[in-house]
Amino acid sequence: MTPTSTVKVSLPERSYEIIIRAGLLERLGRALKKQGVRGKIGIVTDRHVARHYLKRSLEAIKQYGMDPVPIILTPGEQSKTLKTVEHILDVLARHRFERSSVLLALGGGVVGDMVGFAASIYQRGIPYIQVPTTLVAQVDSSVGGKTGVDHRLGKNLIGSFYQPRAVWIDPLTLHTLPHRELVAGLAEVIKYGIIADESFFAYLHRHMSELRRHAPGVVATVVKRSCEIKAEVVAADERESDRRRILNYGHTIGHALEALGGYKSLVHGEAVGIGLVQEAELACFQGICARAVVEEIRRIVNEAGLSDRMPRWAPQKIWNAMLHDKKVSGGRVIGVWPERIGQVRIGPIEKHVFEQWYSVSRVSPHGHA
Ligand SMILES: NC(=O)c1ccc[n+]([C@@H]2O[C@H](COP(=O)([O-])OP(=O)(O)OC[C@H]3O[C@@H](n4cnc5c(N)ncnc54)[C@H](O)[C@@H]3O)[C@@H](O)[C@H]2O)c1
Ligand SMILES: [Zn+2]
Repeated sequence: MTPTSTVKVSLPERSYEIIIRAGLLERLGRALKKQGVRGKIGIVTDRHVARHYLKRSLEAIKQYGMDPVPIILTPGEQSKTLKTVEHILDVLARHRFERSSVLLALGGGVVGDMVGFAASIYQRGIPYIQVPTTLVAQVDSSVGGKTGVDHRLGKNLIGSFYQPRAVWIDPLTLHTLPHRELVAGLAEVIKYGIIADESFFAYLHRHMSELRRHAPGVVATVVKRSCEIKAEVVAADERESDRRRILNYGHTIGHALEALGGYKSLVHGEAVGIGLVQEAELACFQGICARAVVEEIRRIVNEAGLSDRMPRWAPQKIWNAMLHDKKVSGGRVIGVWPERIGQVRIGPIEKHVFEQWYSVSRVSPHGHA
């Protein structure tokens, strides 16, 4: 029998389970039934994912006498907009979805974020289930209840906190994922090791090449441990006040680089990979960690197939992009700094410190591209 792993996300209002099981997609109907789902089911996906998985998902659901309504979106971050959410809502209204109807988000983080948001506002909230199909979505975006869309003036500017009923992960779906997307997801996985679990970091180091080749046991272990860490952090701090900030490690610089590249040159995880190393460099510069910590992080980021090199942007531009990020408080940038592998601290950084570091690191052997 295929092993099933369960991770519980414990929250005051409603707890839910993350289920990880190879071949889960073939059992969607049974799983929905077990969840007590009746009524209408909307299965929202994008064209790429639909090509591989929609038919069999629909069949697995129909087998159990349910009548799913497929909603197929245009793939990519460009479609993560209010307009697309409006389209989802239109379909729900036309099919007379009710308060008890359920949405299934079958896809990556783009689909998951939009479905969560649509579910949170349709009739003031209907249940939804995440069925993530990218590594980023399986280890990160499907867990935690942050939903939303982009606005022309900022990424993820519009959204809500709205927890799914369940998260169902079929690691076999990663087989069809483009390699670049898999590698991008590894940045988030490495992040979990750095912020919370030194032995997981060591495990990743030992198994990186198998992970890059989708070795099933390794993938399942990595997805499970990542979900456990995210679930633990989210349970401690559902609304991102303090503890949850540690999940932003690598993202202060990462988000800035992503924005400066117009969300085209680097995919999110690639920007985060650079952020993991460069924020460790900054921590080292501030005396928060030893150089050996930076080098360990650099090594694993490179082993994953990610770059650690800062693209050439003027420091002022990077700082301004960092200030634009939501994780800013009173004009100061709040960073997450590794003290050692498995432990980080949160603290502000001043502009002059950033600029000093930037000019020093330009001439150092560890510096920029
Ligand atoms: N809510 C959160 O907490 C959170 C956390 C991290 C990221 N995000 C969001 O997630 C989004 C990024 O998610 P993503 O990296 O999953 O990108 P994505 O959803 O755009 O998916 C990446 C690409 O892979 C394709 N794809 C997905 N699954 C596939 C599969 N199994 N086989 C073949 N192709 C497949 C998609 O069609 C798309 O082209 C961003 O919008 C980001 O803001 C949200
Ligand atoms: Zn991220």
